[in-house]
Amino acid sequence: MHNDLDVIKSKAGEEIASASGLKDIHDLKVKYLGKKGLITTQLKTLGALSREEKKEFGKVLNECKNHIQDLLNKQEAILKTSELDISLKTQNIDVTVPGSSVPFGHLHPVTLVFDEIISIFLSLGFTVEEGPEIEEDFYNFEALNFPKDHPARDMQDTFFICEDVVLRTHTSPVQVRVMEKNAPPLRVIAPGKVYRCDSDVSHIPMFHQLEGFMVDKNIRMTDLKGILELVVHRIFGPNTSIRLRPSFFPFTEPSVEIDISCVICKGSGCNVCQTTGWIEILGAGMINPRVYEKAGYDPDKYTGFAFGLGIERVAMLKYGINDVRLFPENDMRFLKQF
Ligand code: DAH
Repeated sequence: MHNDLDVIKSKAGEEIASASGLKDIHDLKVKYLGKKGLITTQLKTLGALSREEKKEFGKVLNECKNHIQDLLNKQEAILKTSELDISLKTQNIDVTVPGSSVPFGHLHPVTLVFDEIISIFLSLGFTVEEGPEIEEDFYNFEALNFPKDHPARDMQDTFFICEDVVLRTHTSPVQVRVMEKNAPPLRVIAPGKVYRCDSDVSHIPMFHQLEGFMVDKNIRMTDLKGILELVVHRIFGPNTSIRLRPSFFPFTEPSVEIDISCVICKGSGCNVCQTTGWIEILGAGMINPRVYEKAGYDPDKYTGFAFGLGIERVAMLKYGINDVRLFPENDMRFLKQF
């Protein structure tokens, strides 16, 4: 038996050494180690041997098998590199042929406007905070001084998850969440998605807002006006005017709506501004003392302002877009223009 193995081993050595291609290696693998291969056939004879013989012959057989496997691996590696060498030498590769270009994507107009506004506020020392989109009724309404059954809730076209949980209808709840965890002074912006059950040329059920607020001792309405004027000038240009109109929000007192002079007609009157020369862009006000109470601040010690800005609205005015539904549609003809 050992003699048979010696013959197989030396024959395998010769044949493997003279293999000239990967196909030969494959055939030799089958011939020696395959299911019906010479070594495998020897393995099958083990069953008929005594325990002692099995032990001794099994060991020799295994060594022989490993030896052949080893030779095959080595020769295979040699042939692989030489086949690559040959193909590199014989095939012509024209390195000057231009590659096929991968089209570049770019940022969505909403993201562009967000980035621009956020960087203006960062330059003024504001920090960015975020809050959950699935929000508790408490933060979305209650803590912002919308008591249950208050008619002001109606304006917010709320998607309810269950009785006490909603998709946030605005970014204002972040005010309360930040105040609960931090003591004044605060200078914060909170950008994010908000949801309302509404859809037409100027409403989509998911849109974006940027909340901003500043709380400290002696913060006044003039601080609000000065900061927002500066931001408006940076976004729409230095000749844009702003005006404050009295309004109502439960979480600010007094409340205002802020208009900018029409970016289309520059104030002379057109159909975008409905001939008024002014366009409303945000809601704002001095934070209502009741909000401080919910957050645990002393309303006699601190004052502050807050504002909420619709990002799609700013993007529409900046780029002259007349249908808000274009933003979520993902039509490349629209998106490619930015
Ligand atoms: N949260 C309001 C809304 O979405 C917008 C707003 C108005 C935010 C006045 C404010 C504010 O912070 O002071 O309708």
